[in-house]
Parts: sequence; C-alpha cells; structure tokens
Amino acid sequence: MAEAALAVSSIEIVPSGKALGADVIGVDIKRDLSAEELGQVRQAWAEHLVLRFRGNGEVPLQKLADFSRLFGDLDRAPVASQTMGKDFAWQHPEITVISNVVVDGTPVGGLGSYEAVWHSDMTYNATPPKGSALYAVEIPPSGGDTHFANMYLAYETLPTNLKAQVEHLHCVHDASRNSAGELRMGFADITDPRHTVGAVHPVVRTHPVTGKRCLFLGRRRNAYLPGQPLEESEALLDALWAHATRPEFVWAQQWQLGDVILWDNRCTMHRRDSFDPSTRRLMYRTQITGEAVI
Ligand code: SIN
Repeated sequence: MAEAALAVSSIEIVPSGKALGADVIGVDIKRDLSAEELGQVRQAWAEHLVLRFRGNGEVPLQKLADFSRLFGDLDRAPVASQTMGKDFAWQHPEITVISNVVVDGTPVGGLGSYEAVWHSDMTYNATPPKGSALYAVEIPPSGGDTHFANMYLAYETLPTNLKAQVEHLHCVHDASRNSAGELRMGFADITDPRHTVGAVHPVVRTHPVTGKRCLFLGRRRNAYLPGQPLEESEALLDALWAHATRPEFVWAQQWQLGDVILWDNRCTMHRRDSFDPSTRRLMYRTQITGEAVI
C-alpha cells in the first residue's frame, strides 16, 4: 500500500453542542502539525469559528507565535499594551499580555480584572485582525470566563425588516476606549457618537474564506451609522445588539491552565467576565493579520 494511504490523522474535532466552538483533541500546539492535520484544523476553524486546544501544558511564547502563524501573518502587539517592558516587547513583538497582575506598581498587561464587554478585536482599524490565539498561564479560581457569539447565526436569524434595513449600511467603530471601558491615551472622551473616531465598516460583511454573510458590529459604545439621524442610528444599533448577543448564539469558555483558544474575529464577538482583583489571571495573545472588510 502507498505510504500516503497509511497517514491516518489522529485529530478529533468535538463540537461544543452550542452555537459555535469545538475542542480539537490530539493536538498539542507545541508540536508540528502534518499538512493533513493542519488542513483539518483549518476546516474545523471555518466550521466552528472558535477552537479549543486543551492540555498543552507550558507553552514557550515562541511556540504560541509559531502555532498562530499557521493561520496567517501576525500583527505586532499594540504598543499601549506592552507594559511588560522593553525587553519583553523586543523578544516577543507579536505577544500581547492580558492580565490584572501588577509588578512594582505597574500592570504587566491590559484589561485588569474588569468585565470586558461584547466586542470584536480592533475593528476601529481599517484592517482588523482575522483572528486571535489566547493562551492561559494563570487563571483565577472563579470568574474570567470568555464568551463567544456566532455572528453568522445572528445575521441569518435577523427579522426580515431589520435585515433589509441594515443590508447596505456602514458603521463607525469607536477607537477611543478599550473593551473594559478605559480611555485610550491620546483620545478625547466621546459624548456624541456622531463625532466618533475610528474605521468605518459595512454592518454586514462577507467572510473571505466561507463566503458567508455575518453581522460585523465591533463594539456598541459610541457606534454610529453615518448618514442616519442620531436617534435612528441608536435605535437600529440597539435592536441589532439585542439580537446579536442572544444567549442561543453564545458559547462560554471556562479556562483551564494551558488552554489555547483560537477564534475567528471576523464572524464572532467575545466578552469576558470580571473576576476577583485579589486573584491572578495571566494570558498571552497573538493576533493574526486581517484584511479589508467587505
Ligand atoms: C479579549 O477581550 O481579547 C480578552 C479576552 C479574555 O481576557 O478572556
């Protein structure tokens, strides 16, 4: 028998049973994947939108970056988030630290222990990341779960009148605050969404891999639909957000040490629960370079 015919993959994809999310069994992200395994993982990513790789143990940050690079080029970590110091940023330019840990009075990463509200990452940029990998190094005894919502389903199940209304609309995505509500350095506090600063994207986008349409909302705060009277923009966005975050579109990740979650930022939103600030949570994240939103 030809050798290729013997190459049986040992990967198993176990769906969460919810609107999105699946476990990838049989992959330790520290090891090299065969072409066949990588094909399977990519297909599972397109199908389930969020993949969980559990039981990786301790992952060197270079390995996390190498694994993430299997899905595309990596963005450099945002400068504002690099509180780990120059050496860390120089050694790991593609790693963002998400943490509430404070060393010598300086937070080592972003978002603290606050709740992070529903959002997709960095959609206030012209080319937001296509996805992210998030790796759990330290987790609190409770809280800090990360929830993901399926934006294909949200679009497909929109009431017909709402779907028709938003089909060709665009939205301004606010750059001024992060998902924990903190004002970013150099930005003015926006009180009127008509003055929001950030990228403008279609409200409904087409996923470049699957060709499917999905809602692309970014974040609610300071969002604005250009060309609409403010009250109408607010009412439409409220209706869209109430629909998009319905519990039936959501799956929640309860972290275990060594978990790596890979999510597609184009067709999902996520949010994070707050947790006790006296406990520690330390995560490392990569972001995979995205494309223009169409
Ligand atoms: C994020 O919003 O990118 C961070 C999610 C998390 O800390 O679980």
